[in-house]
Amino acid sequence: MLLRVVSLGFGNVGKALAQMLAEKETELKSAHGVEIVFVGAITRRHGAWTSSEGIRAEAVQRSGWPGGDLPHGATRFDGSTEELARLPHADVVLELTPLKPADGEPALTYIRAALSAGKHVVTANKGPIAHGLSALRKLAAERGRLLRFESTVMDGTPIFGMAQACLPATRIEGFSGVLNSTSNFVLGKMEAGASLDQAVAAAQAIGIAEENPAYDLDGWDASVKACALANALMGAELRPAEVQREGLGREAMVAAIASRAQGARIKQIVEVRRASDRIDARVRLESFAAGSLFGALSGMEAALKLRTDTLGELTLVEGEGGPAQTALGVMADLVAIARGRTVGPQ
Ligand SMILES: NC(=O)c1ccc[n+]([C@@H]2O[C@H](COP(=O)([O-])OP(=O)(O)OC[C@H]3O[C@@H](n4cnc5c(N)ncnc54)[C@H](OP(=O)(O)O)[C@@H]3O)[C@@H](O)[C@H]2O)c1
Repeated sequence: MLLRVVSLGFGNVGKALAQMLAEKETELKSAHGVEIVFVGAITRRHGAWTSSEGIRAEAVQRSGWPGGDLPHGATRFDGSTEELARLPHADVVLELTPLKPADGEPALTYIRAALSAGKHVVTANKGPIAHGLSALRKLAAERGRLLRFESTVMDGTPIFGMAQACLPATRIEGFSGVLNSTSNFVLGKMEAGASLDQAVAAAQAIGIAEENPAYDLDGWDASVKACALANALMGAELRPAEVQREGLGREAMVAAIASRAQGARIKQIVEVRRASDRIDARVRLESFAAGSLFGALSGMEAALKLRTDTLGELTLVEGEGGPAQTALGVMADLVAIARGRTVGPQ
């Protein structure tokens, strides 16, 4: 199965994906019968290109684009991102543009354009999943296409694919998780004696915190993830503004660290539960015993505990997360799409 992909956005994740596809090209073909080529890509500052033949990941990577020359055999494309999402000879659109937490745009528009034009879509962007999943799923079903988004929460950790493949007829009653790595990295540094400013500076120095880290520390990142999970796994129609964010932010973090019990660990935690007529979601700081599941997490580690009506509790723990792990989730989605097409109609 040949998959011709076009990438909307080609930053950290796009580059890591090209590297992984190049490294795994032989295995993808021999073990899964999947061959993946790029037929186009677009960035905000470095323009865009298309290729009618398709360019192997290794050649895209070798070109150094974006930043370097266009990949050999590529033609400059002067249209918009939305136009590229409809590229006639693409099978799959990768949506890898930055997150906009408030409304999931413009990624939502790009995904709608791609599905409407009959493309499968893979996105690592949790915004559209938090803000528009049910409508996107309906559109994908109408067009007989697949929409996959494994990398939107906990990088490439298999959450959505695992639930789909391994939890048949299972009702997910709720979940809790430590999902925002930046907050937990900062809290861990503070527990080790750093001031909040020193801890934030350390997070910025290794590239995991923005210049303004409020989006992580105030619980917005975790709220968007809570919505993506609740909407995908529990059939919710939850939006980030509906998630209760309680006692978060800089002052609350300083106070929680100062007043914690001996040896206790403070974590920013997401809690989602099914109530009789609605789904409740909260993000807050909570104290855990050092040896407990969430209390034992350190650095950039993350964990998600699902409550199900079949297995009881099921917990997924992520060690190290970043663009390489995110690329794995995207690659897994591409392989799933290739398999879906091989086995017949979706
Ligand atoms: N990095 C991770 O570990 C990780 C993990 C999980 C999920 N994600 C999600 O994956 C997505 C990509 O992350 P990333 O780290 O690769 O981000 P990034 O490094 O900031 O790259 C974003 C890319 O999108 C391009 N872009 C921005 N606006 C665009 C537009 N309107 N049309 C076309 N291209 C546009 C950027 O171009 P310029 O560079 O020219 O501006 C850049 O190539 C995000 O939604 C992120 O939340 C990332």
